[in-house]
Amino acid sequence: MLLLIKFESVSKVYEDTNTKALNNFSVEIETGEFVFIVGSSGAGKSTLLKLMMREEVPTSGTININGFDLNNIKKSKIPYFRRTLGIVFQDFRLIQTMNVYDNVAYAMRVIGSRENAIRKRVPYLLGLVGLNSKARSKPNQLSGGEQQRVALARALANNANTIIADEPTGNVDPKMSYEIVDLLNHINADGTTVIMVTHDLHLVKTFNHRVITIKNGVIESDYPDASHIDVEPYKFDNPEDAVGSYFVEESGDDLDYLFQNYAIDVVDDIESEDAEVSSTQSSEEADAE
Ligand SMILES: Nc1ncnc2c1ncn2[C@@H]1O[C@H](COP(=O)(O)OP(=O)(O)O)[C@@H](O)[C@H]1O
Ligand SMILES: [Mg+2]
Repeated sequence: MLLLIKFESVSKVYEDTNTKALNNFSVEIETGEFVFIVGSSGAGKSTLLKLMMREEVPTSGTININGFDLNNIKKSKIPYFRRTLGIVFQDFRLIQTMNVYDNVAYAMRVIGSRENAIRKRVPYLLGLVGLNSKARSKPNQLSGGEQQRVALARALANNANTIIADEPTGNVDPKMSYEIVDLLNHINADGTTVIMVTHDLHLVKTFNHRVITIKNGVIESDYPDASHIDVEPYKFDNPEDAVGSYFVEESGDDLDYLFQNYAIDVVDDIESEDAEVSSTQSSEEADAE
């Protein structure tokens, strides 16, 4: 197995509040793992993920991710590094003025993907999250669960090898939480590494992956599965309905079906907008998402 993420004796002090959010923290995560990060509020979970995305830099210690040495990475290389990651936040962070299709397409446009590729891939991604009928809706016309599925489609747009999700189910109901993690689980089974912070131990129990518990900036425990967690897994009244109902297999048939269903019309909209959204947009705008 290939080492994907390595934290060695990492400490993070927020100077303004003099808070030691992580304290001499070391962890290794291999390619293809699915890791749940749990722990009470203020434990340091989000700090850990922000260090992984290089949204924050460590006060001491070293971080290596996806072959990038984050202590010595050049500023100009950071956008390339970030492209190896798909990031999902609790509060979705969709662009409110863009419709669902364009929110996903935008992630591809900022890295210079061709419209041809975008036209094929966005319908596929929206099919994956069960939102092919909402392509033209704006984020404020969607439920929390739907918005999070758009964010997930966006995170998958550029074939990142690692998905980093900070409480992605914090604002959605249990059934939809289950669906979202079920989808992440499928994506993980196809080879993508998934690192997910959650408060929902039922989810952790249901999907039964490695569980790292953080307390006061250190690892309190690190188990290969959820057998030590004493809560019930999720069970829904109609299991057939619950399991993977949003998942669409990647096959030519699905692509044709999705494309015929709505892509042609949407494409007209996009071409008129091409002039506004060029592929030369700065990485800062992409980072702002
Ligand atoms: N930008 C920041 N500036 C100052 N203190 C922060 C900042 N972000 C987090 N903290 C503090 O660091 C500690 C860990 O926070 P965080 O990593 O967000 O924890 P968690 O995600 O586990 O709730 C908390 O005490 C929090 O108040
Ligand atoms: Mg947090």
